[in-house]
Amino acid sequence: MNIVRKKITVVGAGHVGATTAQLCAYKKLGNVVMIDIVEGVPQGKALDLMESAPIESFDMNVTGTNDYADTADSDVVIITAGLPRKPGMTREDLRDINAGIVKDVTENIIKHSPNCFMIVVTNPVDTMTYVAKKYSNLPKNRIMGMAGVLDAARFRHFISLELGVSNLDVKAMVMGLHGGAMVPLPSHTSVAGIPIKELIPQDRIDDMVQRTRDGGAEIVKYLKTGSAYYAPASSITQMVETIVRDKKRVLPCPVYLEGEYGLHDMFMGVPCVIGAHGVEKILELELTEEETAQLNKSAEGVKASISQLKV
Ligand code: APR
Repeated sequence: MNIVRKKITVVGAGHVGATTAQLCAYKKLGNVVMIDIVEGVPQGKALDLMESAPIESFDMNVTGTNDYADTADSDVVIITAGLPRKPGMTREDLRDINAGIVKDVTENIIKHSPNCFMIVVTNPVDTMTYVAKKYSNLPKNRIMGMAGVLDAARFRHFISLELGVSNLDVKAMVMGLHGGAMVPLPSHTSVAGIPIKELIPQDRIDDMVQRTRDGGAEIVKYLKTGSAYYAPASSITQMVETIVRDKKRVLPCPVYLEGEYGLHDMFMGVPCVIGAHGVEKILELELTEEETAQLNKSAEGVKASISQLKV
């Protein structure tokens, strides 16, 4: 028997990072290392989490550190370091400050874990994943962002509320950038295989599409001091699980595009097969003219963001 525990590093022990560490430990996906620039915070949160282990019955180790040497040989690295939004801010407003943080974090991580799978969460995520690829030089199957899983989960929740049906039966697809120009696809969204267009009037679908686009801002408005973290952490953990357990789930993720959907040299959300080899396949859906136009608009947004990067 050759069973080795996976090592999962979470960079940034804030709301998203610590909740992700908790879920990864509860789901027994591997030993978790939390690293943060602030001394004491990852150590304190890790100890607190470990003290829940006897009650929650998990036997994975969770540790906290400020030293990248402790992250060595990680199988999966999740980057959540950076600033979250405040009310009135777009994700794009975080670009310059978070790009510097992601560059610094990536350079440190890659020194110690040159063969990791990297999941970037810091916003604006499509652009930050591009920064992380540039400074990690990871092959494109090893690096992805987290966005579409979250956006699709929000869309699924709204549809299940609308119809009063279990969210387990709602499948949704959201492509494009993680922001106002994201592309929820009602044409590829169904309830137990029934296209939602057969179940919900068009004006209500339009409302839910818009609420999905504004999903992050809706939470920021409530919280006032930060952004969403429960659903983001669940989304990240689902991506980690599909990698470490080789589940080959079909998930929409920002991945490096080299001609798919006619797009080049950028990260943006498309449906992918994710498994033990990371991004194993990109699925190219048939889109209507209107959907293609929306996707291209999204891509222009990402391109513009990349072109303004200062790192
Ligand atoms: N290295 C390591 N950690 C850092 C660094 C750095 N250079 N800079 C900041 N951090 C840490 C902070 O100390 C903090 O603990 O990142 C953490 C961010 O946590 P929060 O402020 O709670 O933010 P969170 O809600 O977790 O969001 C993090 O994820 O969803 C995105 O838009 C969100 O960009 C934001 C990121």
